[in-house]
Formats: sequence, C-alpha cells, structure tokens
Amino acid sequence: MTDLSIDLGFLQLKNPVLTASGTFGYGVEFVPFMDLNKLGGLVVKGLYFHPRPGNPPPRLMETASGLINAIGLQGIGVKRFSEEILPSLKDYDTAVIVNICGDTDEEYAAVADYLDKQEGIAAYELNISCPNTKRDGRCPALGPDTTYAVVNLVKKTSWRPLITKLSPNVTDITEIASAAQEAGTDGLALANTFLAMAIDVETRRPKLANVFGGLSGPAIKPLTLRMVYQVAQHVQVPIIGIGGIVAGSDVLEYMIAGASAVEVGTANFIDPGITEKIIHDLDKYCRQNSIPNLAQIIGSLKT
Ligand SMILES: Cc1cc2nc3c(=O)[nH]c(=O)nc-3n(C[C@H](O)[C@H](O)[C@H](O)COP(=O)(O)O)c2cc1C
Repeated sequence: MTDLSIDLGFLQLKNPVLTASGTFGYGVEFVPFMDLNKLGGLVVKGLYFHPRPGNPPPRLMETASGLINAIGLQGIGVKRFSEEILPSLKDYDTAVIVNICGDTDEEYAAVADYLDKQEGIAAYELNISCPNTKRDGRCPALGPDTTYAVVNLVKKTSWRPLITKLSPNVTDITEIASAAQEAGTDGLALANTFLAMAIDVETRRPKLANVFGGLSGPAIKPLTLRMVYQVAQHVQVPIIGIGGIVAGSDVLEYMIAGASAVEVGTANFIDPGITEKIIHDLDKYCRQNSIPNLAQIIGSLKT
C-alpha cells in the first residue's frame, strides 16, 4: 500500500493534491462530481470581509492551452461563508483552507480575525497576488516590503497556520518568497495567475471588460515549475506548487522540483472530477516505481 500522505509541519495532508482557490467554488458545489474526502485539501474562493460582485463581464476567455480570467474576486464575504458554507464542509475529511483577501493590510487581518473564531478551518492562504482587481495587478506580492508588512501583520494577529500565495508577475520570486518567510509565513503557494490580455481584432477592443486578466492552465506550467524550483533553493518553509496541473505527472514534476503539495485549478473546469484521477495516477506511479512513500520524491531533482 502506497503512503501518499504529506506532512507540511503545520498541517498533515492525506495526499498532496488540493484544489486551487477560485476554481472549485466553496467546495460544496463539487459534491455531485467527486468525493471530497479523497482530496488532500481544498482551498475555497477568495474572501474579503464583505461580499463583492467582482468585475463586469466578459471576464473569462480561453487562449492556447490556457484561460484568462478577470473575475475580480467575486465572493460572499466572511460572515455568509462562516454561516452558510463552513458547517457543511465539516462533514468532509479533508483539509479546508480559506483564501483570504483584502484591499488593505488591515482588511486581511480583519478577515483572519473573524475566521479565527470559526471551527473547521485547517489554514489560511493569504492571497496577496491577485492580478485582476482594479489595481491592475498591483498587489502586495509585487514587492518584498509590502509582502513582509501584510504577512507580518496577519501572523501577529491570527493563531492559524498561514500559507502565503505569491505572484509570478515579478522579476525575482526568491526575493519575495524570502520576505514572506522572514515575516513568519508557515508555507508558500506558488503561484497565482500571470497578468495577461487579449484583443478582438475586428473591434480593436480588449476581449475582457477589465482589459487585463490572469493567465492560468497548462500554458503556465513550465513557468511556475521553474519558480517552485528556484524558491525551493532559497526557503525552508514548505511550498505548494500551482499552475497548469492536469495529470499525475505534472504533480510529480512539481514535487521533484521541491513542492511538498500542489493545487489543481483550471483543470477542474475541464473535468470536475479530475483531482480523483490525478490522485489515482500518483498511487500508480509509486507502485510502478517501488516508491513506498510519495514524500520521498520532494526536491529529488538530479541536476
Ligand atoms: C476563474 C479563476 C478564479 C480564481 N480565483 C482565485 C481566488 O479567488 N484567489 C486566488 O488566490 N487565486 C485565484 N485564482 C488563481 C488559481 O487559484 C491558481 O493560482 C491559478 O489558476 C493557476 O493554477 P491553474 O493553472 O491550475 O489554474 C483563480 C483562477 C481562476 C482561473
């Protein structure tokens, strides 16, 4: 029997496969399509303190091997999430991670503070990296100082483990990762979407009402894989790899590069049960290669 479990230090996962924020609703929407108990964990859609309508449409479009989204963090806010969603998530044996957002550092801290009083949450994922809000991609994760400030504040005010989700839209991702580690983050998630755009040549207008959006899907996998590898050489905290995962082999690449776990995003839109298949692929790989414990491949890249 293969052991797929992963110890992140602050959190035990039954396997390394989680679902990525914004691509899996609040989890409960996927119950008709798959068994949530099979997941290592699920990360819910980003939450601000108050409900938000997000950006006007069109806000989603397909590109070659990818998707550009400008949803703009539509969400129901912490209060409704805690009252209407969280109680039903407690029925499932999987780690529930809440993706938290803020227009200011204080809002991030207030969201965490509210959620600190709720049960059934394993950790927070600090979304300091969304590229498609009104700020044209100018989020805290673009600089080491702004990253340090928000991570430090949330760590000081909240008792729960914190995973900081970084932006790939930077020159040197290792500098930002080190700032988050110095500020006390328990883990890192790499990465959010790449700032992107698309143009309709007939109308000469942007295809997205927001002009800019974030690129995700298989198109970005080699880019985020490279970042995971670079960051793994610089930090000691566990890394969660995100970007373009559609199969077990993608998960293995991220783990060999240094990720302890992964999140699957855009692939959930193609097949809402894909994560179960990916977990099955991992088990098969371990059996075929006589690997008793999947965790032993983390950071095993031979260069
Ligand atoms: C429609 C959509 C909505 C998203 N919403 C969020 C969000 O609320 N918070 C967040 O941190 N990331 C959000 N993301 C980014 C994903 O969690 C993930 O980082 C990104 O899509 C890369 O992974 P993938 O290539 O597997 O999709 C969203 C992505 C998509 C496509």
